[in-house]
Amino acid sequence: MNQPITLITGGAGFVGSNLANRLLTMGRRVRILDNLSRPGVEQNLQWLRQQHGDLLEFERADVRDAAAVSQACAGVAQVFHFAAQVAVTTSLDNPQEDFAVNALGTLNVLEAARARPVPPAVILTSTNKVYGGLEDLQLSVQGQRYLPVDAGVLQRGIAEDRPLDFHSPYGCSKGTADQYVADYARSYGMTTLVFRMSCIYGPRQFGTEDRAGSRTSSCARCAANASRCTATACRCATSCSSTTVEAFLLAEQHAPRLKGRAFNMGGGAANTISLIDLLDRIEQLHGERPDVTFDAWRTGDQRYYVSDTAAFQRETGWKAKVASADGIERLYQWLAAQQGKRAAAPAAQRLAAGVH
Ligand SMILES: NC(=O)c1ccc[n+]([C@@H]2O[C@H](COP(=O)([O-])OP(=O)(O)OC[C@H]3O[C@@H](n4cnc5c(N)ncnc54)[C@H](O)[C@@H]3O)[C@@H](O)[C@H]2O)c1
Repeated sequence: MNQPITLITGGAGFVGSNLANRLLTMGRRVRILDNLSRPGVEQNLQWLRQQHGDLLEFERADVRDAAAVSQACAGVAQVFHFAAQVAVTTSLDNPQEDFAVNALGTLNVLEAARARPVPPAVILTSTNKVYGGLEDLQLSVQGQRYLPVDAGVLQRGIAEDRPLDFHSPYGCSKGTADQYVADYARSYGMTTLVFRMSCIYGPRQFGTEDRAGSRTSSCARCAANASRCTATACRCATSCSSTTVEAFLLAEQHAPRLKGRAFNMGGGAANTISLIDLLDRIEQLHGERPDVTFDAWRTGDQRYYVSDTAAFQRETGWKAKVASADGIERLYQWLAAQQGKRAAAPAAQRLAAGVH
């Protein structure tokens, strides 16, 4: 098969396996490089193999291994670089490893791409954490959430012109990767693009409560497992989306024109949800409220963050399509199915009756 290959680093993970599935379904060849360090992701790999057989290639390797990354780039036309150390808490415990995976690993990917006769485009998943704690943002508490006082931010969220302010080793290592990827378009003329993602959640996420997206998954998992969930005292309005895969396809299509740019990605102002709202939604779905304990604020936590996705929408026509209430239900059903349980009937009845 001479068809060009798409390399997804971290492709066994949540975002990567969802994108891989879409590309493979379209008949494209996909190569995944992943060290399978995230517990549970081998199930994603197995699922992809069952669905798509030989169209999928798998390289068990670490992005810190420059030679392995270089080998994985052979014959590749497009790179989605998702492999990362993704937890703020882990980065605080082991900043050197965090830096090696997120910053040096990204440099390995860029250099491997640059060394190819025709360098493939590189799209990176960065994070909203590159904007720091947003401490200067004036907030008011309304109902169950913090909301910005500034009417423009309230309406649209945080845009890309927000100054960068790396906070926590994770923020610094992802921020470094973010800036390197953008700069390779300037310094070497490569086609590179950055997505600064907020809370992305959905099926195939094997997460902890360490990240906003994983927190959504974690709370839903607690309900599905009927176990205790620890939350920070956070009422952040986080935008979520399960239409991120569409955004990656559009980014790939438009990357030659948009190269060197960074875009905020998330559900946007229309799809915000606070952690307390999320618990309410899960209670509706599960029939009882997860057992929650509240913990102290964590380093770099944002009380409020919503992605302003207007720039990417304007450039590509993308739009978040799944409302957070629906997306959370899909996630809950997937988690419940994973546990071999069905969602509680009373909750389903309440939902069917449209009672909130
Ligand atoms: N999901 C979100 O809410 C969110 C938010 C912001 C940014 N992101 C970014 O999106 C990307 C994907 O996130 P995800 O939610 O799919 O995470 P994930 O943990 O599900 O997937 C990451 C994958 O990378 C692999 N990996 C980790 N270290 C590696 C290494 N050294 N070498 C090779 N593979 C390695 C893991 O085994 C895993 O399969 C990450 O870069 C993350 O920082 C995600």
